[in-house]
Amino acid sequence: MSIDWQKKFSERSLTMKASAIRELLKLVDSPDIISLAGGMPDPKLFPKETIAEISKDVFLNHGGKALQYGATEGIPSLRETLVEEGKSEGIKNLKLENLIVTTASQQGLDLVSKIFINPNDTIVVEAPSYVGGLQAFNAFQANFVTVPMDDEGIRTDILEQKIKETQSKGINIKFIYTIPNFQNPAGVTLSLERRKEILRISHEYNIPIIEDDPYGEIRFEGERLPSLVEMDNIGNVIALRTFSKILAPGLRLGWIIADKSVIQKLVLAKQASDLCSPSSTQYIAEEFIKKGYMRNYLDLVRKTYKEKKDTMLKALEKYFPKETSWTKPEGGMFVWVTVPEYIDTDKLFKEAIKEKVAYVVGSAFYPNGEDKHHIRLNFTLPSKEEIEEGVKRLAKIIKAKIQ
Ligand SMILES: Cc1ncc(COP(=O)(O)O)c(C=O)c1O
Repeated sequence: MSIDWQKKFSERSLTMKASAIRELLKLVDSPDIISLAGGMPDPKLFPKETIAEISKDVFLNHGGKALQYGATEGIPSLRETLVEEGKSEGIKNLKLENLIVTTASQQGLDLVSKIFINPNDTIVVEAPSYVGGLQAFNAFQANFVTVPMDDEGIRTDILEQKIKETQSKGINIKFIYTIPNFQNPAGVTLSLERRKEILRISHEYNIPIIEDDPYGEIRFEGERLPSLVEMDNIGNVIALRTFSKILAPGLRLGWIIADKSVIQKLVLAKQASDLCSPSSTQYIAEEFIKKGYMRNYLDLVRKTYKEKKDTMLKALEKYFPKETSWTKPEGGMFVWVTVPEYIDTDKLFKEAIKEKVAYVVGSAFYPNGEDKHHIRLNFTLPSKEEIEEGVKRLAKIIKAKIQ
């Protein structure tokens, strides 16, 4: 008898949805389409030669360790390096026991979900928020409370109001998930005032904060703001970090900073997940930092992305109708465009593909897909010429819809 697999899957797996982005991106896989859709770094910038040199040394001279299993917490020398980096950034009390290496921050999101979320637990997310985060929380059957954002990040006044409402119904909120810098997808940054507010709220209402910050180091304009984990000196904050945007996503490496008791639980969760992150890439990343290559690489990344971002904003200014608006990111990889409410960007997507340009539909970034008048544009992967031409093609189809 052949098995009916649908009947065998767990309840949890039934709540899993395919990412709308990945499904749509399948349509985009044609060379004549200009994609402003993806969320990838510019591969031309990857420090290939340097990584090749470091790798040769790592494998030839330390291959025994680099090709062996490592500790679940991560290779001690990489963790020490990351602790030193964290302390020099301003997390004063940071110790080795507060840090675990992960298989990039997507695993961080999965592990955090695994140790905190029971089925039907409630969590707070920004609206819009990172699709991969929503997917991870959804896989553990979370309920979502959404809080809107403006140019200063999450609206902390609405956050407090929604927390009060939720708690007054006897519902416990497990955590608040925020992406404070150059948010994916909105491109906005949480202001200093709101950083203080979100921490006050966390302490007053006894709710942990998950600070997911893959883009903080990719600031190409404006003043650096302290991270939440730094401001709270770890405290109530669980900070997710990654090498994906500051070095290369192909290494699949990240780390989490949190209270020692949270790290201990994460270690148990990670053991069941993958035993340890790849030892080889941990040694490579460590050498990349220790040999001082990170600073030059980040300078190049920031300079290149700023030019591309400027190209995109100029093109939007030049071609987009006055009925539209967009965010002006000081870093990161995305611009978030708002179109009039009568334009459904889900429906517009097919027309965009006909015009040979792709974007990500705004609805993908809401837990219930409720918002349909936004689009996310990426400026890091396409060339400047593609950005200009892609925005021009998009403007044409949007203009045709303006009433
Ligand atoms: C906000 C956010 N969190 C997490 C990730 C996952 O990145 P990675 O697993 O490569 O570290 C991304 C990737 O784009 C992201 O934008």
